[in-house]
Amino acid sequence: MRQGASGGHVLDLGCGTGDHCFELARRGFSATGVDFSHEMVARASEKAAGEPSLAATFQQGDFNQPLPFEDGAFDHVLSAFAMHYARKPAAVLREIRRVMREGGLFLVITARRPRGRRWYTHPLMAIRRAGWKSTRGRGAHPFEPGELERLLAQAGFAVVDRDEGIAWAVQLVARAGPR
Ligand SMILES: C[S@@+](CC[C@H](N)C(=O)[O-])C[C@H]1O[C@@H](n2cnc3c(N)ncnc32)[C@H](O)[C@@H]1O
Repeated sequence: MRQGASGGHVLDLGCGTGDHCFELARRGFSATGVDFSHEMVARASEKAAGEPSLAATFQQGDFNQPLPFEDGAFDHVLSAFAMHYARKPAAVLREIRRVMREGGLFLVITARRPRGRRWYTHPLMAIRRAGWKSTRGRGAHPFEPGELERLLAQAGFAVVDRDEGIAWAVQLVARAGPR
């Protein structure tokens, strides 16, 4: 993580097979990966068993439900290409803020509706047309331009870095403010 995070315990929401957790663990963080899919968690755990020196653990969980962690349990949170599966993003972001310590960083990269582009050019729409459904079977809901920033502010975060280099995605780093 940029923006000064050099260690600590990171929660990766929608971790898939855990690659970001492993990379964080190689860089001195400890990481807990959570994914809705049992298959993803099983694969990530298999990979972790092959790299026992890395502090990366995995568990099944659904970020559309209350997170099974204490207040302030994590220094930082990461979520890559998963938050567009949030059914009530404002509530999910509040839960993320709850499980973080004040001053921790939330790095999120997720699908958003591209500015000034026709919606049907979005890769998620092409995937949907091909009959693909998310692992929850409800499809994905990319954010409107500016929507994620607004919801983060409402949940108690301050955006400290952004990268909009990919037309259909937004990457933000947000610092958790006081509760
Ligand atoms: C596109 S993959 C990204 C995986 C990983 N973050 C990466 O960047 O390689 C999205 C992941 O989000 C998970 N996911 C979708 N909805 C979820 C939910 N409600 N709770 C937890 N994980 C979820 C999926 O199972 C899938 O593994």
